[in-house]
Amino acid sequence: MPVDVLVGLQWGDEGKGKIVDVLAPTYDVVARFQGGPNAGHTLTFDGIKHVLHQVPSGIFHPHILNVVGNGVVLDPFVFRQELQKLTDRGIDWAANLYISKKAQLILPSHRALDRINEEARGGSKIGSTLKGIGPTYQDKIGRTGLRVGDILLPDFDQRYQEAVARHATLAAFHNQKLEIEELEADFFSAIEFLRTLQLTDTEYLLNDLLKQGKKILAEGAQGSLLDIDFGTYPYVTSSSTIVAGACTGLGIAPKHIDKVYGISKAYCTRVGSGPFPTELHDEVGEQIRQAGREFGSTTGRPRRCGWIDLPALRYSIMLNGVTEIHLMKADVLDEFDEIHVCTHYEYPNGQQTDHLPDYGDLQTMKPVYKSMPGWKTELQQLTDPQALPGELKAYVQFLEQYLEVPISIVSVGPDRVSTLHLS
Ligand code: GDP
Ligand code: IMO
Ligand code: MG
Repeated sequence: MPVDVLVGLQWGDEGKGKIVDVLAPTYDVVARFQGGPNAGHTLTFDGIKHVLHQVPSGIFHPHILNVVGNGVVLDPFVFRQELQKLTDRGIDWAANLYISKKAQLILPSHRALDRINEEARGGSKIGSTLKGIGPTYQDKIGRTGLRVGDILLPDFDQRYQEAVARHATLAAFHNQKLEIEELEADFFSAIEFLRTLQLTDTEYLLNDLLKQGKKILAEGAQGSLLDIDFGTYPYVTSSSTIVAGACTGLGIAPKHIDKVYGISKAYCTRVGSGPFPTELHDEVGEQIRQAGREFGSTTGRPRRCGWIDLPALRYSIMLNGVTEIHLMKADVLDEFDEIHVCTHYEYPNGQQTDHLPDYGDLQTMKPVYKSMPGWKTELQQLTDPQALPGELKAYVQFLEQYLEVPISIVSVGPDRVSTLHLS
């Protein structure tokens, strides 16, 4: 049985959490393969909104095993808080949650370094969530990181002290101190808690489940345009956010991958710094922000808003081998007379391209738009895909033709029931 992978096609916050929740009933396992507490995945059902950061979004379904894979960077303190919140809401997660012993640990000193590094960047800040993601992946790749499995070793405390000493020298380079003493007691009590969970070699667990015919949904975090290799570098996150990351982040061979769900908003947002060619700095951008409640699920920061960018989407689709697209938040555009779609970019000399330009070129190139009529219909009430307004059908059709991938879901509200399955 296969592994299906769900990835964001833009700069994150496309609605991945909602879709994992919608698709979960047809899977046996949901597995997170990268990222960490920088993610904020929102699920809404029965009138309650849940925001998950590190816990996979299948946790609300009692029949589903939830796996935090080796590609994830895990903050034990944030994790315990998240699980406590689930307990308070009556969710019985304990038997259904497995954590890779090979996942990397985010230490308080990683969070401190994230802040120090950002400050040192002056005017070219990444806009990091300051959760310690970059410094933790730096340690992983530098082969100096601490992994979840290390907390079971007798000399864990010593390894921790060595890591902190190393981090202190990095902070000193910027004439800063880590100032983490007050956080350490909480960190160690969260480590104590982590020791009570199901820590295992999840690559074996997942491959055994595959052999038993179980179906796995791999849940991506962030978005393809934040990918460490293919995103708008250096304004990216520090992990492989594309489908390939599911193989390395879970220990699953490519031959097992079947469907690839690409999640995209009907428009586009970005939080943090970096190029965003279709960004709207006017009242239209503000209208999208308000209608879409575009404020970060993790940091509360206002998201930058703009029109959908088809060259960028086509690029993400190519990198991921997307087999179907889920078009999210269509209802946010309900009130618009006119909707713009970026189909090309234009160089200063008038030449056009439908490739996503390099970072340097993006400064000087202008998006070229096609205008389409808005649907001026309240979509949230719709339950029958046949009843979609003609203008929205035309919008969907245009995107499908341009992107050469079917759109199988149109989402028209945050709740799991506000989901129209087109095929
Ligand atoms: P994720 O990080 O990709 O899981 O996305 P986030 O949860 O960070 O952001 C998506 C936001 O849009 C959340 O507040 C969702 O509740 C909300 N949302 C998801 N789908 C829809 C939709 O179709 N319509 C509207 N209006 N909101 C949606
Ligand atoms: P989900 O999974 C949107 C952005 C940050 C910053 C850059 C690097 O909810 O879609 P980091 O903390 O990773 O070093 O920040 O990446 N970013 C996200 N933007 N959604 C996310 O996750 C994000 N995770 C990181 O804003 O620009
Ligand atoms: Mg999010």
